[in-house]
Amino acid sequence: MSTPDELILEIMTTPEGRRNPYPLYAQLQEQAPIARSELADIWFLARYDDCHNVLRDPRFGKSDPDKPMTLLPGGAPRSRLKFARDSMLLLNPPDHTRLRGLVAREFTPRRVERLRDNVETMCDDILDAIAEAGEVDLMDTLAFPLPVRVIGELLGVPEDERDAFRPLTLAAAKSIEPDVTEEEMVTANAAGQQQADYFTDLIARRQEDPGDDLLSALIELRDGGDRLSQSELIATAILIFAAGFETTTNLIGNTVNTLLRRPDQLAKLRQDPELIPSAIDEVLRFESPVQLDLRVAFEDVQLHSHTIREGDAVITLLAAANRDPSKIDHPNEFDITRSQIPLMSFATGIHYCLGANLARMEGQAVLNKLLNRFNTIELLDTEPAWRDRLTLRGLDQLNVAVG
Ligand code: HEM
Repeated sequence: MSTPDELILEIMTTPEGRRNPYPLYAQLQEQAPIARSELADIWFLARYDDCHNVLRDPRFGKSDPDKPMTLLPGGAPRSRLKFARDSMLLLNPPDHTRLRGLVAREFTPRRVERLRDNVETMCDDILDAIAEAGEVDLMDTLAFPLPVRVIGELLGVPEDERDAFRPLTLAAAKSIEPDVTEEEMVTANAAGQQQADYFTDLIARRQEDPGDDLLSALIELRDGGDRLSQSELIATAILIFAAGFETTTNLIGNTVNTLLRRPDQLAKLRQDPELIPSAIDEVLRFESPVQLDLRVAFEDVQLHSHTIREGDAVITLLAAANRDPSKIDHPNEFDITRSQIPLMSFATGIHYCLGANLARMEGQAVLNKLLNRFNTIELLDTEPAWRDRLTLRGLDQLNVAVG
């Protein structure tokens, strides 16, 4: 039997563990659902209720940017990227409350709903090109370009300037992986700086020539003296752009991959397209695009029989919580007919994903269009090609033939 630290190391540091962490999460859930690692002052929570409670508990929050944390022995200290100091994702109340409130005021369900027709047209264009090619890597041709166009449209990033973000976002996102190296931190910071420079310039252009986009609306807030600073504006633009496509790209890839590997579920969906919304939620549960989240304790907290000390880090294993057998029957079965899915993929509490509706809408639109457009979609690879990352887990390639 493995010790909790052996399991944690296998999940966090081995390609096999990252490729398929689920049996290891299940072992943690059984043997040590609240595990304090001997490797560092870190707790790992594998059960739904514990993750839920910690993420909603004001005695936990985001770490102090001046105290970089090392999550694994030999790993680089996860310092905060410079521009990200003013990102709502990493702030605590009251700054978080103020900034999120201002952005949420503009990032309304109406603005998201207005995008739906656009998303469908964008899907049609992309699927035309895929139909013509016949055999494609769906990650490259659909899962990446669609969310980038959508978020570019929402935010007001001109079309020919969007694709350049992919390598930058991938490099910057490495900074939130537990096994990030010092060299990768340097690259991540440089990528973050390039994004900050880009948005500084775009903000200046939008100020001259405002549009009907979110960035122009946020600029107006800043200029209206609504306590949104220039650096908060830049950090918000980078966050929304990055959060808006990397995760959604992985949701789209996971949706197609998971369904094609389960023909019975795909057949059910073709028979009853009303199941599309629950199918997308089931993909989110089954293959969480964000596998884990991190908090620190602001004071000593008693969690069942354990005392989490002030300053200790806590990793909530969102993807493990999604498969907690005490919360959901047969958690390792993928079943698109489930109702009331307990979902931790968008986290919970004050940092609950601001783009959850948009991500769901995109996932549903893509799936609907794919099923309508193609009678057959066949996988060309026997094994899924997972990218070697854990926090933002997704496919590197998804080669298919369509007909
Ligand atoms: C499948 C797609 C997505 C997943 C799985 C996802 C997941 C998450 C998670 C887990 C968090 C919480 C992080 C934390 O607690 O530290 C979060 C926060 C956030 N997400 Fe998403 N996200 C997705 C799509 C999007 C989209 C499309 C947008 C925007 C356009 C977006 C914008 C944000 C923002 C702004 C936050 C920060 C909220 C805050 O700190 O208050 N996300 N997301």
